[in-house]
Amino acid sequence: MSSTQTSDLIPVPSGQLNIADVSNESPEAVDCPVWFSLVVPTYNEGKNVEHLVAVLSHLLNEAVGDDYELIIVDDDSPDGTWKEALALTNAYPRLRVMRREHERGLSTAVIRGWQVARGEVLGVIDGDLQHPPETLVQLLKAMRDGADLAVASRHIEGGGVSDWSLIRRFLSRGAQLLGLVICPAVVGRVTDPMSGYFMVRRSAIANISLDPLGYKILLEVLGRGRIDHVAEVGYVFQKRQEGESKVTWRQYIDYIGHLVKLRSRGRISRFREQFPFARFFRFGVVGFSGVFVDIAVFYLLRFHLGLNIFRSTALSAEVAVINNFLWNDLWTFGDISRKQPGQRQRLLRFLKFNFICLMGIVLQGLIVSLGHDVFGINEVISKLLAIAIVTLWNFWVNLKLSWRVTQVK
Ligand code: GDD
Ligand code: MN
Repeated sequence: MSSTQTSDLIPVPSGQLNIADVSNESPEAVDCPVWFSLVVPTYNEGKNVEHLVAVLSHLLNEAVGDDYELIIVDDDSPDGTWKEALALTNAYPRLRVMRREHERGLSTAVIRGWQVARGEVLGVIDGDLQHPPETLVQLLKAMRDGADLAVASRHIEGGGVSDWSLIRRFLSRGAQLLGLVICPAVVGRVTDPMSGYFMVRRSAIANISLDPLGYKILLEVLGRGRIDHVAEVGYVFQKRQEGESKVTWRQYIDYIGHLVKLRSRGRISRFREQFPFARFFRFGVVGFSGVFVDIAVFYLLRFHLGLNIFRSTALSAEVAVINNFLWNDLWTFGDISRKQPGQRQRLLRFLKFNFICLMGIVLQGLIVSLGHDVFGINEVISKLLAIAIVTLWNFWVNLKLSWRVTQVK
């Protein structure tokens, strides 16, 4: 390998899998923008690469003139795919080649390619000619017509698989069905969520930290991108002519792991957005104040007024409940209380609050004995656990019941 060849390789981006806005790109990209960047991930596709580049270049020259670039991202293939590709760059000036030596995997290869891309529309196609290049024309049209994402699909009109065994069809559909169960919001958005042949608008995935697992980069784009308008184009998955597939059982496991990850991410962020943290904090402060009220009043009743232990406990607890209610009504839920004015409304809130607190005490007793007697957890830990659970319960039920905003017509 000569040194000029090596210097012609695109440097591999490192760090986060984050795609920049065009404006933040390298000076080179700003000086030399194109409309469309097509990434081809390859691993041991040496026998396919020349034909592939020829076909894609011919097709794209016709479709978009010279407003495109082809980016081959090769994971240091033992068969030297990257070298073959590099040798083609003289004949095909729109071709760029990246050789990754320290990172592996189809999905991250695609993202690394998009990171150095200059286009406004980013695409991906397999490097083994199983994705018919002609479909690019329809995908490009869909993007021109304003789609955020255009997916080549085997499962709509005009789509299909050429010679798949019954078992492979069954596995593929089974995986799709399983995906629908795990993460319907992602998998249900397109007819062919496993497709590795699609285009996406840069703006839809720019400045988002992508973190894919395994083979299915489309899941990541659907799960994390800002995708409104989706278009689909049918295609027939071709028979592999040269080389072999890299799919193993590992990809099925990664696929499930990827979906679980996307699903929990959505959950956590939704929880963060929706849970009223500030209100819960105020509720906690008020509850804490109640503990001191409770103990002080208990002390007073028991040792200064000489009431018996049961009465002292019950009365002091009730005084604490009243204390908590007043502060919660004024402060924690003050904004809601003000929308329900009048003494009658306030009394109603108080009665509900009281009732919920009472149930909380019963619940606490149940949790403590469950934790201690059934699961054998230490008594004090059981008690702390019960307090934590009941505090949450109290907060949530009071929010939904006592201070519920009643819709007035
Ligand atoms: N850079 C890189 N790194 N490329 C890889 C890697 C990798 O680790 N693994 C696979 N590739 C490349 C292959 O060289 C090929 O160009 C493309 O990714 C697809 O890999 P195949 O192994 O040929 O996959 P397939 O044909 O079995 O699976 C395809 O199934 C879908 C339909 O179910 C997927 O690749 C999808 O793209 C396709 O739509
Ligand atoms: Mn293939």
